[in-house]
Amino acid sequence: MSTTEQSTSPIGRDTQRIDGPRKVTGLAQYTSDFNFPGILYAVPVEATIANGKLITLDTAAAEKMPGVRAIFHRANIGRIFRSTPAPGFERVCLERRPPFEDDVIRYYGQYVALAVADTFETAKAAADAVRATYSKEKPNVESRLEAGEDPDVVFTGYGPVPRLQSQRGDAEAAFASAPVKLDETYVTPAETHNPLELHSTTAMWDREVLTLYDSTQGVVNMRSVLSQMFGVPKENVRVIAKFLGSGFGGKLYPWTHVPLAVAAARELGKPVKLVVSRRMMFQAVGHRARTQQRMRLGATPEGKLVSLQHDYIYHLSMIDHYHEDCGEATAFHYSVPNLRVHWGRARRNIGATADMRGPGAVPGLYATESAMNEMAERLKIDPVQFRLLNEPKIDESVNLPFSSRHYVECLNLGAEKFGWSKRTPATGSMKRDGLTLGWGMAGAAWIAGRFAADANMQLRDDGTVRIACATQDIGTGTYTILAQLASEKTGVPLEKVEVELGDSALPDGPISGGSLATSSVIPAVFKAADQAITSLLIVAISTPGSPFLGHKPEDLALQDGRIFVKAEGAGKGVPFGDFLRQANARFVSGSGSSEQTAFAPHPKFSMHSYGCHFVEVTWQPEIARLRVSRVVTVMDAGRILNPLTGRNQIQGAVVMGIGMALFEETTYDPQNGAPINSNLADYIMTVNADAPPIEVHFLDYPDKEINELGARGIGEIGLAGIAAAITDAVHHATGVRVRELPVKIENLLV
Ligand code: MOS
Repeated sequence: MSTTEQSTSPIGRDTQRIDGPRKVTGLAQYTSDFNFPGILYAVPVEATIANGKLITLDTAAAEKMPGVRAIFHRANIGRIFRSTPAPGFERVCLERRPPFEDDVIRYYGQYVALAVADTFETAKAAADAVRATYSKEKPNVESRLEAGEDPDVVFTGYGPVPRLQSQRGDAEAAFASAPVKLDETYVTPAETHNPLELHSTTAMWDREVLTLYDSTQGVVNMRSVLSQMFGVPKENVRVIAKFLGSGFGGKLYPWTHVPLAVAAARELGKPVKLVVSRRMMFQAVGHRARTQQRMRLGATPEGKLVSLQHDYIYHLSMIDHYHEDCGEATAFHYSVPNLRVHWGRARRNIGATADMRGPGAVPGLYATESAMNEMAERLKIDPVQFRLLNEPKIDESVNLPFSSRHYVECLNLGAEKFGWSKRTPATGSMKRDGLTLGWGMAGAAWIAGRFAADANMQLRDDGTVRIACATQDIGTGTYTILAQLASEKTGVPLEKVEVELGDSALPDGPISGGSLATSSVIPAVFKAADQAITSLLIVAISTPGSPFLGHKPEDLALQDGRIFVKAEGAGKGVPFGDFLRQANARFVSGSGSSEQTAFAPHPKFSMHSYGCHFVEVTWQPEIARLRVSRVVTVMDAGRILNPLTGRNQIQGAVVMGIGMALFEETTYDPQNGAPINSNLADYIMTVNADAPPIEVHFLDYPDKEINELGARGIGEIGLAGIAAAITDAVHHATGVRVRELPVKIENLLV
């Protein structure tokens, strides 16, 4: 029944986004676009201290303003329960304390009240008119990190995690006796998610039933968390997120503004909309943790690693447990007999830390790949060659074979496409058109696996197909991927496939996270299709008047939307819609599930994606002008279902990586603990003018361990390693090693 071998397969073809026309014509409804009769607007009141206690709240002036419906606070918001973690990726919430639960202020911008009014403008004015007094203590937003007191096993958002993350051999002793050593510390700053679309939520209750429009990367998880926070059964909660202006991980899980809007809607009996402001985006909706990572490497003069130690510390908020897993890729990426990865954490008066594109591994690989480059320089070995010399045969951290690893081919192809052999290693030695060139490179890795997913497919009497799954398209192309998958199995062209996503009423789907959505939905969609097609063939052999009466279902097949007898070939097929109309059936349907394999207890393979970046920077010392001028990226991410959207994902990640290397940093005011650059003028991100030509190559080897198509994921890996490649290129051009991101011009004026 499969059409996999056909040349008309939509898999692996450049396919434009099926939702593109809806987006460019303005038909696509983003969360804050939905409006409802009687809707009210909510604006939170934010704490202006980062450490202390709320003493008084004067709401009188605000309450008297015309058009104000309520000023909510601890005494009148009603009950909001805590959500609790469940095994796996169920009920994830990074800031568990419900809003207003106590009077303690733990970070700047923590919500202390909520103004609700007939218009947004009135709500904003009312929020501004609320007066709060505090007992204040000096906030701790110190940027230098020292690990706090923690037990050997820490309960994190991922469950209990040992601080000794990985160990083999005797790393200390091997380092002590290593002929060539490196001992350096690398720092990555706090970074703030700045998707174009702000966090937005609209809540409405109909008796005990809650409907929530929310800009979430996970409608199913959001439903579970809210059902617990409001003490209603899961089936009484529906969460809808049809289109997102991206999220970068910041929208994976619920933040405290969501239960505030839900509680306000409950108390007032009206729909309540709350849109977080750009400034608030820096405070209470997560950020990437600051990290400080000590790398110790030992090697032989011939370039064989003998010891690798990675000790990292990250900051986190006062009461949350987010784990920034910088060691995620350290233990398997290179062959080394003696290794130790260990971590600690430092609590600060800041909002909760969170997943941000490539959480853990991205800051982690900045440190490990930078250390590899510096070690190669000390050894006077080309950095590509140094990596080739330390290519592992298996995943040495767990003694498992890799499901599909072509890192060596990535390195060789990248070097060839970039022209790496022309590199002269001396710093400042390469010139072009009066500019000094710097060439650098680094490797990349990211997890692969599947979350659980369900899907439902309908084959309809008008010859169209509907495929439904409660996952989301956060701008990455998930609508299009599901259409391709449905088309692949039914032979119905893309324009006749309707994809329904972003609604918790649909069959359960995964978060749009971990770069796992595509790999997760493939088996579910294919099984749903198989069941729907079987159901269709039963109609074909049983409907009076059908030319297929008397056949068995297994004699028949579906191709290009037509049913035919296998023995007679596809030429004599009949469009499936004809049978359904004849049978007076609007549709047949099928359901399918795929099981979670990511983070499963007893894996048979070590599953990851791999890649590398080669980067050129230009440097003009006379005017201290540094630019990234050229990037070549090679990715080994399994089979690529849609190279067009795939390249786009990697290019976007490289652009973000330029920001990580050169621009992005959230800075906290030591006086009041506020993120001081909390706007798009002062928080600098890569813009078009900073983006160089980015050449992306996919190796396209199917990983048969992950799903039928061998497709892993590509959302995050493009950001892994790129900052190390850029800083290495900066060193090659300028002679300056910057080990604290972002690289600032003043670092280079030496
Ligand atoms: Mo990604 S940080 O899992 O959205």
